[in-house]
Amino acid sequence: MRNYFIAGNWKMHKTVSESVALAKDLVAKLGDCNEKLMIAPAFTALAAVSEAVKGSKILLGAQNMGPEEQGAHTGEVSVFMLKDLGVKVVILGHSERRHSYHESDELINKKVRLALQHGLEVILCVGETLEEREGGRLETVCKTQVEKGLAGVAAAELGKVTIAYEPVWAIGTGKTATPEDADAVHAYIRKVLAGLYGESSAKAMCIQYGGSVKADNAAQLMQKPNIDGALVGGASLKPETFVPIAKFR
Ligand code: PGA
Repeated sequence: MRNYFIAGNWKMHKTVSESVALAKDLVAKLGDCNEKLMIAPAFTALAAVSEAVKGSKILLGAQNMGPEEQGAHTGEVSVFMLKDLGVKVVILGHSERRHSYHESDELINKKVRLALQHGLEVILCVGETLEEREGGRLETVCKTQVEKGLAGVAAAELGKVTIAYEPVWAIGTGKTATPEDADAVHAYIRKVLAGLYGESSAKAMCIQYGGSVKADNAAQLMQKPNIDGALVGGASLKPETFVPIAKFR
């Protein structure tokens, strides 16, 4: 039986004390969950949440990372700082970073390679806007984001890479791709990965779905053959909405 990777992206929500309270609650309620689990609080709460999840099975994630190791980069957070706090996974290329902060595929790729070089796991987010989908560019957009995002990444490093397919129009909108629709795009992404790394590497890769994942649609999504987990935004902010997603089966 395969393990799913269920990850919570808390985005720009919660103070340190609120984050610790949520993390402690999740540790208590998810001790018996067998999936791979991650929570990504804001940078300001990483240190405290790191303590709260210590010894549990919940991995500590960060929502972003600077593209340089260190130096004069005002406002950025380095891979060393994240590792120092116990961060194991970093979310890169989230659509909010791509669209609100104009992060390019080249910049995202630089971060992906830097994170992997220092042993962090990466969740590389890809996905099309509604305009791109309606304009028939879904496949081109996903292919470009996967290929450029993974440029220079060796097959041996893929065990530390998860792809999150997040259609931009489904994020925070309550609109979810149908499980069939999402699975078809996941299958396409796997085909792109097979083109880059071969069939068996592509088959072994984890591809999460993200975009309005909730307790009532998680099981249907996870049942699909190409959906290996979920990247959850809004519903990851409360135990009563996140725990049932992590325990979807
Ligand atoms: P959502 O966000 O679950 O609130 O749609 C998903 C994400 O942005 O990762």
